[in-house]
Amino acid sequence: MPGIRDKLILQSKCGIRPGPFTCYDFSKEHIIRSVETSLRRLQTDRLDYLLLHRPDLLMEPEEVAEAFDQLESQGKVLHFGVSNHTPSQIELLETCVKQPLEINQLQFSLAHTLLLDAPAYLNTTDSHGISRDANVLDYCRRNHITIQCYSPFQYGVFEGTFIGNPDYAQLNAVLTHLAKKYDTTENGIAVAWLLRHTANMQVVVGTTNASRIPGIVKGAEITLTREEWYELYAAAGNKLP
Ligand SMILES: NC(=O)c1ccc[n+]([C@@H]2O[C@H](COP(=O)([O-])OP(=O)(O)OC[C@H]3O[C@@H](n4cnc5c(N)ncnc54)[C@H](OP(=O)(O)O)[C@@H]3O)[C@@H](O)[C@H]2O)c1
Repeated sequence: MPGIRDKLILQSKCGIRPGPFTCYDFSKEHIIRSVETSLRRLQTDRLDYLLLHRPDLLMEPEEVAEAFDQLESQGKVLHFGVSNHTPSQIELLETCVKQPLEINQLQFSLAHTLLLDAPAYLNTTDSHGISRDANVLDYCRRNHITIQCYSPFQYGVFEGTFIGNPDYAQLNAVLTHLAKKYDTTENGIAVAWLLRHTANMQVVVGTTNASRIPGIVKGAEITLTREEWYELYAAAGNKLP
């Protein structure tokens, strides 16, 4: 439809090369080919955002920089970012890449809170203090990189949703209570919990069910109290030191 493209923000990722043996690929050729394929599929001339999906262990920052320069100068990509990247991987890219890396897309939900857990247990012998997050949350905040939360309703690695899941009974009881209080859905409260975090994150939802959208949108407008935010964190099975 004419005019509609300018009202959309289109974001795509590249760097995972599926096949008989899946590998990660940040070569110039792969990045450019991925974008051109996305543009063809989306029937558009530009992506607003391009993210590097998962760190390529064979990454050469010079090649990424050449790919980004070409895509930017041709007007095919307007902004750039990464996903699942540590602070030092971002800094390595930045030794060559000129464009700001504006986004880091990371898994974060009420049932997947590793970005928060270890820093809360600093200097204790509790195993929650074992860091798997490389302090990426604080790093992104300090460097004005927007965290996009993916899988906001999932637990594990795409094992299923915690909403309505009997394994998360205590969490669902609090979600339902707050959904009634704020006149939204459990999905809405799960989104409100992510957005209440002071890092000013964005939430990437994957629902294919249009009836879930109004509750999710309402959730984005709700500001949970500090007590409600902590109550949900605890109900998900977390405890504070
Ligand atoms: N950067 C990365 O490495 C990475 C990895 C994974 C995903 N992502 C991105 O993040 C997006 C979202 O990820 P996601 O799809 O895992 O996120 P999600 O929104 O947490 O999960 C969506 C799934 O949860 C189900 N669901 C949601 N609410 C439900 C409810 N109340 N009851 C039952 N089922 C419910 C949905 O089913 P319905 O369709 O029925 O609602 C759908 O199967 C993806 O599209 C992708 O772009 C990025």
